[in-house]
Amino acid sequence: MLVLTPPLGWNSWNTFGEEISEQVIRESADTLVSTGLADAGYKYLVIDDCWALRERDENGRLVPDPAKFPNGMKAVADYVHSKGLKFGMYSCAGMLTCAGYPASYDHEHTDARTFAEWGVDYLKYDYCFHPASVPPDILYKRMALALLNCGRDILFSACSWGYDSTRHWIKETGANMWRSTDDINDSWRSVKTLSLAAPLSLRYGAINCFPDMDMLICGMNGAGNVGLGGCTPDEYRLHFSLWALLGSPLMIGCDIRKMDDFTKETLMNAEVLRINQDPDFNQAFEVGRDIGGFTETKAERPIYVRILSNGDLAIGFFNLSDTPSVPMDMHLKLEMIGLPESTGKTLLMKELWTGEEELVKNGIFYTPVPAHACKLYRAQVVDAPSQGQGR
Ligand code: GLA
Repeated sequence: MLVLTPPLGWNSWNTFGEEISEQVIRESADTLVSTGLADAGYKYLVIDDCWALRERDENGRLVPDPAKFPNGMKAVADYVHSKGLKFGMYSCAGMLTCAGYPASYDHEHTDARTFAEWGVDYLKYDYCFHPASVPPDILYKRMALALLNCGRDILFSACSWGYDSTRHWIKETGANMWRSTDDINDSWRSVKTLSLAAPLSLRYGAINCFPDMDMLICGMNGAGNVGLGGCTPDEYRLHFSLWALLGSPLMIGCDIRKMDDFTKETLMNAEVLRINQDPDFNQAFEVGRDIGGFTETKAERPIYVRILSNGDLAIGFFNLSDTPSVPMDMHLKLEMIGLPESTGKTLLMKELWTGEEELVKNGIFYTPVPAHACKLYRAQVVDAPSQGQGR
C-alpha cells in the first residue's frame, strides 16, 4: 500500500484508554464529520488498546469485548465507513498488548485476516511483551507480510517508540508510518522531550514511511487517560506547529465531542495542514541554532525549514526554553537557507497563526518568540526591493 502524505485522524488512547465503547466510537465518528475535521483531512478513526477479551476464541481468533462492543467490530467498521471515514485498530508484536490483552505474536496471519474481514483500514502495531529471541525487524516483517496477504489494503502503523534503532530497519518492513519517539502525555515536559528528540529521525522519513512523533494532545486540557496537567494555549500551538512542520502523522487525541474553539481552530488551520500534507514531502532541516544566551538556551531554540513543492518555504521558530528571561529574539539569515542577497531575492513571510505578513530586508529576519511559544511561517520567494527602497 502506498501512502503519499502523513495520515491524519483520531485515536482513542490519549483520552479514553480502557474506557472505550461502540458509543464513544460512533459519537467520535459523528463529530469528526459534523465539526469539519473529516473535511480538513482527519479521515482515520482508530481504536487503540483494550478493545478485546482477555482470551482468544476456540478458533484462535481475537474477540471484541461484548461489554464494550456489543454488536461486534464489523458493525463499528460499517458505521465508520458509512460516515466516509477509515477505520483503524490496534494490536501488538508481542504475546500481550501494552495493557495486557492478547496480541499478535505467532497469530499474525489469523489476526490480519480477522481485521480484513471486519473492514479494518489501518493497524497500529505496538512493541510490548515481545520475545527477546526474535529481532525487532523480524517482528514487524512478520505482520507486514500478514497484512499484505490478508486480502485488504491495511495501512501499517508501526509503534516501536524509536527503540532498538527503529529508524535503521523500519523501511525494510514496508511500514507506512512508524513511531520515532516515546509515548506522549498531556504536559509541557512531554512536548519538550519529544521535540528535542525529533531531529534524530528526520532523515529517515520519506513518503510512505512517515516518522510519527505520537498522537496530539491539543485540546486535552489535562483531562483523560494521559492528561497530566495539560498545557497552555501557546504550548499546544507549538506542539501542533512542530508536529505539522516536521511531517508527522497527526492523530488527534482529545475528546473531540467536547472540543473548545481554540482547539478546533488549531487543528483545522488549513495553511498549517497544507504544509504537513505538502506532496513533495521534502525533509525538514534545522538551521544553525539561534545565537545569544547560553548553550542550553541555544539547543532549546531550534529553527526548522522545509522546502515546499511550489517553491515556497515553511519556516518555524520554536522556543522550548523554560527560562522566560533569556532574550526572545530569534533570527534567520537567508543565506543559511540558500537565498543570499546576491540573488536579488528575499522572502515574503506570512505567519500562519496571526496572518501577519512581513518582507525580509537586508537578508536577515528577526522575530521575538517567547518561552514555550513558536512562530510558523509560509514564506514566498520574491524580488528584493532595490537599494534605497525599503532599506
Ligand atoms: C503503548 C503505545 C501507546 C498506546 C499504549 C496502549 O504505550 O505507545 O501509544 O497504544 O501502548 O497500551
